[in-house]
Amino acid sequence: QAAGENVILQKQDWRTYLGDGVDARPYGTPSAHEAHVIRRNVEWLTADPVSSVSFTPLHELDGIITPNGVCFERHHGGIAEIDPTAHRLMIHGLVDTPLVFTLEDLKRFPRENKVYFLECAANSGMEWRGAQLNGVQFTHGMIHNVMYTGIKLRHVLEEAGIKPNGKWLLVEGGDASAMTRSIPIEKALNDCMIAFKMNGEALRPEQGYPMRLVVPGWEGNMWIKWLRRIEVGDQPWHQREETSKYTDLMPDGRARRFSWQMDVKSVITSPSPQAPVTHGKGRTVISGLAWSGAGKISRVDVSVDGGRNWRSARIDGPSLSRSVHRFYLDIDWNGEPLYLQSRAMDEYRNVQPTKDALRAVRGVNSIYHNNGIQTWYVAKDGVTENVEVS
Ligand code: MTE
Repeated sequence: QAAGENVILQKQDWRTYLGDGVDARPYGTPSAHEAHVIRRNVEWLTADPVSSVSFTPLHELDGIITPNGVCFERHHGGIAEIDPTAHRLMIHGLVDTPLVFTLEDLKRFPRENKVYFLECAANSGMEWRGAQLNGVQFTHGMIHNVMYTGIKLRHVLEEAGIKPNGKWLLVEGGDASAMTRSIPIEKALNDCMIAFKMNGEALRPEQGYPMRLVVPGWEGNMWIKWLRRIEVGDQPWHQREETSKYTDLMPDGRARRFSWQMDVKSVITSPSPQAPVTHGKGRTVISGLAWSGAGKISRVDVSVDGGRNWRSARIDGPSLSRSVHRFYLDIDWNGEPLYLQSRAMDEYRNVQPTKDALRAVRGVNSIYHNNGIQTWYVAKDGVTENVEVS
């Protein structure tokens, strides 16, 4: 509390009358004082909000779980409003018995609970050529991390019986965009899920109610929402979303074929442009998120001088494979400008590259899979900006 204020001695208005009763808010919402903690879009980015993206307010969140109401949304044909009783999941193609399931049918298979991040391949895509968007919500907010309840995809595939030449799945959404992707059978049988709950409650319509595919560690585009059809085939389909979109254009003009796994990455969420330092010098908490599509994060280093010197940050909270990890570095800020960076390493010793190192290999034609190190410049007055150092 600033010197001279005597808030503790004052009688605040809300202490003078009774509050709402227990049934006034049957489904709770955040305090009115948190009204700024919302998803936001970048209007110039897309022609129309119906095929667009809204970003997670990472600078306002802590811990590892993204609250359902602020999970970023990416959809290509608007939010499908599905009546679960009129929704079906069909499995056909190279199977012994084509099957159609209701949601209730699926809920009778053994369930599991898993925390995973979902990152859009285009996350940080606007930053390829240089620092552009002034806020971690916009540079890194195409990610969310929730606990899914659902069933292993393997259960329904085994129920239908995959024929020996069944090597690929085509998964299709029930929205107006009919989003479709090819998935290799090994991944499908290994750890993919059909989820119907997120953070304990039904999936939100934005996230694919009543059911979505969970593809741990792999790019968000493959996590088909409003899942309605799975076809088993003997080769990939090469749909639009895995050829002209969601492939990485290399410097020589050729494109990488299928880059499914999300690379090791981290970002400081506070301080950041939307969360400047307002308390002046002294005790300061630097905090951020780290994740890898390969597994767990084993280490996060933080630099306050643009990458010249590094200190290991403290990872706090659950360390789960292909979930985000929360890290902190507690410093005594001397009030001089900072060039903040974080660099993550995963359990397989994959290390997050600098943006320059990434560009040396990948060029600047790409939009997707940018996991380069982010720099925030903190000025003496605490105002923070998106910059690059080289
Ligand atoms: N599934 C369907 N049916 N339709 C879509 O438009 N968008 C994909 C994927 N699944 C999409 C979809 C993309 S590009 C991403 S990044 C993720 O969903 C976003 O998931 P979210 O909206 O839960 O953040």
